[in-house]
Amino acid sequence: SWWRSGWRVCWVLLQTPPPSSTRAPPPSSTRAPGTAPPPSSTRAPAQRLKVRLAGYPRKHNEGRVELFHQGEWGTVCDDDFSISNAHVLCRQLGFVEATGWTHSAKYGKGLGRIWLDNVQCGGGEKSIALCKSRGWGNSDCTHDEDAGVVCKDERIPGFVDSNVIDVSENKVEEVRLRPVAATKRKLPVTEGVVEVKHRDGWAQVCDLGWSIKNTRVVCGMLGFPHERRVNKNFYRLYLERQKNFFYVHSVACSGTEVHLAACPLEFSRPNSTGACPGGAPAAVSCVPGPLFTPGGLKKKLKTSVRGVRLKGGARLGEGRVEVLRGGEWGTVCDDRWNLQAASVVCRELGFGSAKEALTGARMGQGMGPIYLSEVRCLGTERSIWNCPFRNVSSEDCQHLEDAAVRCNVPYMGLENTIRITGGRTRYEGRLEVLSTDPNGTQTWGLICGETWTTMEAMVACRQLGLGYANQGLKETWYWDSSNVTDMVLSGVRCSGTEMSLSQCQHHPTVSCQKAAAKFAAGVICSETASDLVLNASLVQQTVYIEDRPLHMLYCAAEEDCLSKSAAKANWPYGHRRLLRFSSQIHNIGRADFKPKAGRHSWVWHACHGHYHSMDIFTHYDLLNANGTKVAEGHKASFCLEDTDCHEGVSKRYECANFGDQGITVGCWDLYRHDIDCQWIDITDVKPGNYIMQIVINPNQEVAESDFTNNAMKCNCKYDGHRVWFHNCHIGDAFSEEAERRFEKYPGQLNNRISS
Ligand SMILES: *[C@@H]1O[C@H](CO)[C@@H](O)[C@H](O)[C@H]1NC(C)=O
Ligand SMILES: *[C@@H]1O[C@H](CO)[C@@H](O)[C@H](O)[C@H]1NC(C)=O
Ligand SMILES: *[C@@H]1O[C@H](CO)[C@@H](O)[C@H](O)[C@H]1NC(C)=O
Ligand SMILES: *[C@@H]1O[C@H](CO)[C@@H](O)[C@H](O)[C@H]1NC(C)=O
Ligand SMILES: *[C@@H]1O[C@H](CO)[C@@H](O)[C@H](O)[C@H]1NC(C)=O
Ligand SMILES: *[C@@H]1O[C@H](CO)[C@@H](O)[C@H](O)[C@H]1NC(C)=O
Repeated sequence: SWWRSGWRVCWVLLQTPPPSSTRAPPPSSTRAPGTAPPPSSTRAPAQRLKVRLAGYPRKHNEGRVELFHQGEWGTVCDDDFSISNAHVLCRQLGFVEATGWTHSAKYGKGLGRIWLDNVQCGGGEKSIALCKSRGWGNSDCTHDEDAGVVCKDERIPGFVDSNVIDVSENKVEEVRLRPVAATKRKLPVTEGVVEVKHRDGWAQVCDLGWSIKNTRVVCGMLGFPHERRVNKNFYRLYLERQKNFFYVHSVACSGTEVHLAACPLEFSRPNSTGACPGGAPAAVSCVPGPLFTPGGLKKKLKTSVRGVRLKGGARLGEGRVEVLRGGEWGTVCDDRWNLQAASVVCRELGFGSAKEALTGARMGQGMGPIYLSEVRCLGTERSIWNCPFRNVSSEDCQHLEDAAVRCNVPYMGLENTIRITGGRTRYEGRLEVLSTDPNGTQTWGLICGETWTTMEAMVACRQLGLGYANQGLKETWYWDSSNVTDMVLSGVRCSGTEMSLSQCQHHPTVSCQKAAAKFAAGVICSETASDLVLNASLVQQTVYIEDRPLHMLYCAAEEDCLSKSAAKANWPYGHRRLLRFSSQIHNIGRADFKPKAGRHSWVWHACHGHYHSMDIFTHYDLLNANGTKVAEGHKASFCLEDTDCHEGVSKRYECANFGDQGITVGCWDLYRHDIDCQWIDITDVKPGNYIMQIVINPNQEVAESDFTNNAMKCNCKYDGHRVWFHNCHIGDAFSEEAERRFEKYPGQLNNRISS
C-alpha cells in the first residue's frame, strides 16, 4: 500500500545512556555502619562495639557472630568458646540470654578478619570486648572455625538497638549491569558487571562463591529469561584496572528467587577490600528473549509462541495469564497464585522473572474456560504446564479470580524517542518523535494527524509507558502550541501490537496536507480501558430462522436493516427471511465503554423511539468459503446500556429518556433475538455452509484494551429451511491451528456436495 516504504526515519534508541552507564557513586561513607571507628584499645567501651548476627540459614535470633572493629567487620573463632561467651553476646544483641552456640562455621564462613580467638567470658560481662582473649586480630584460626550463637527469642525490655546492626535492614533494592568498555553499548544491556542498589547507593558484588544460579536471579530481574557463563578472564583483565567498591558478598541464590533481596547474602563495609579477598566484582551474561534480540523490535509481538499468552495488559510483559489446551485458550484461577508460578509464565514468554503475581482479575476477566487452579511451581519449570495444578470446574472458580502477571522486561529505552507536549495532564498531548537526519543530528518533530487513529495512539501510549490510548487525535489546535516543532513523520499506520512507532509503517518523506502544528497527531492515554466481548455460546443457543411479513418491517426498512433486494419487493405483501439470534455484549475490561460521540450528536430514531449514539457499533455478516460476504447485517446503530450486571456491580447506563449511554465494567448489554433489526437478512442466500461473523466496535472508534476479541465467529449450516450454528467462539479463543480447521468448514461441505 502507498504508505509502505522502504525508507524509514532513523529511530535512535540510544540517545540517552542506559541507566547503567553512569559511574556508580560508592556508598556514602557518612552513612556506613561504624560512623566512628572504635578506638583500637582492646578494652573498647561496651557501647562502642557493634555486634551482629550473619550467615545462612538462620533466624533473626541466631547466626554467625560478627564484630565491628577498626572499621571492619570480622568474626570470632570457636576455640575455647562457651555458653558463657554466648550469654554475653546475646545480651549485647538485646536478647535476654543464649540457649546455645555453634562452632565450625555452622552459618557459613565469614569474610575478612578473625577478630577474637580463645575468648573466655565469665558470663556477666557487659561486652565481649571485656572478656579474656588473645587480643584483637590475634588468631591462628581460619573461617572454618567461625563461632555462632543461638539466643533466646526474648528481647531485653527497653533494649535500644543502637549497637546492633540488623543485617536484614540492609536490602538490595535494585540491580543493574555496567557493560564494560569493550562491549558495545547496545540496548538491551545483556552482559556486564553486576551492581546493586542499597540504601546508601550502588555497589559491586564479590564474586567469591558466585554461582550461575545467582546469575539466573540477576538476569530474571533485568528482564531476561536465561543466563550463560561469562568469560571470566576477559573481565579479570578489565577489572584489574578498575577501583572496586564491594558491599555485598556471599550471595547464595537457589535460582528460583525473583529478586536478589530474597537470596541469602551478606553486606560488608563499603570499599573494604578485605570483603572480597582474592575476588573480583561479579559479572553476568544474560540471554534475552526473542523480542529483545537484535532486530527483535522489528518483529511483531507474537503472543502465542507457546501454550501461554498474556491478555489485557497495558504494557509489554503484563496481562491476564491464558493457557492453551485442546486448541482453546483458557484462564488460570488465582488460588495459590504466586511469584514462582508467575515467573515460570514470564520466562516461558521470553521475559525475566515476575515482578508481580496479580490476583482477582486485576488485568480484566477472561470469557472462556478456566483450566488451572492451585498452580504450584518451583520456579525451575520450563512451562506452567509442567507445574502441578488442579483442574477446575466453574463452581470452584470464576473469572473474577483470573490470575495475571507483571514480568520484568529489559530496558530498551523506547520511551526516550517519543514525548508529548502541550496537554493539560501528563497523560495527554501532541506527540513528538526523535528523528535523526543523515548527518546524525537528532531533532524532535511532530507527526501528521491525517492517518492517526486509536490504533496508532495505542502504540504511542504503550511506548510512552502511559498505558492504553483513550483517544487518538487528528487535530490538536486546542492545546498549548507555544513551543511546537516541525512535522517529521506522516502516514503512520500501526497494527496495534507494535512496541514502538518505529515498527509501524509511514511515508518515506513527510507529506501532510495540513502541516500546521494544530493538525499534528495527539494522544490521550489512560491506565485503564474497556474491553467488549460477545457471549458466543448465547449466539449459538439462540439462533433460528424467521420468515417475517413485510408489513411488520416498515420500521426496519427505514433504519436500513434489510438487504438491498427488499427495495424491489412488493410491499406490503411477501416476507423476508431473517437469521435471528441474541447478542450479549460484556464489558470485561477495567473502564466503562462509552460512545465516542457526545450526546449532542446522538441521532433520534423515531421509529424505534431511542437515540443512537454510535453509527457503527457492530457488523453482522455471513461469509462463504472464500471470505466473501453473502449477506450483510445492517450496520447496526445501537443504544448502549447496562441490561444486567454481575453480582455486586450496579447498573449505570440506561437508554430510556435520553439517559447516559455506555456499558459498565462487569455489566452487559443484551439485544434479544426478538428485537427489531437484531438479525441478518438471508432472503437471497442459498443453502450451504457459511461462517457467521459479528464484530463489535469494528472501526475501533472507542478505545479498548484488546481488539483481538472483538470478533465472534460461528460455523453456520443452512439447509434452506433450518439453520445450525457450531463452534461459536471469540476471535482470539482458538489456537492458530484450531482456527484454521474452523475456517475450512464451509469448503468441506462444498466438496461433499460436489462429490
Ligand atoms: C570508597 O571509595 C570512594 C572512591 O573509590 C571514596 O571516595 C570513598 O571515600 C570511600 N569510602 C570509604 C568509606 O572508604
Ligand atoms: C485435567 O483434565 C484434563 C482434561 O480433562 C486431563 O487430561 C488431566 O489429566 C486432568 N489433570 C488433572 C491434574 O486432574
Ligand atoms: C549534512 O552535512 C553536510 C556536510 O557537512 C551539509 O552540507 C548538509 O547541509 C548537512 N545536512 C543537514 C540536513 O544538516
Ligand atoms: C518554551 O521554550 C522555552 C525555551 O526553551 C521555555 O522557557 C518555555 O518554558 C517553553 N514554554 C512552554 C509553554 O513549554
Ligand atoms: C453466556 O450465555 C450463556 C447461555 O445463555 C450463559 O449460560 C452464560 O452465563 C453467559 N456467559 C456469561 C459470561 O454471562
Ligand atoms: C468467492 O465465491 C463466490 C461464490 O461462492 C464466487 O462468485 C466468487 O467469484 C469467489 N471469489 C473469489 C475471489 O474467489
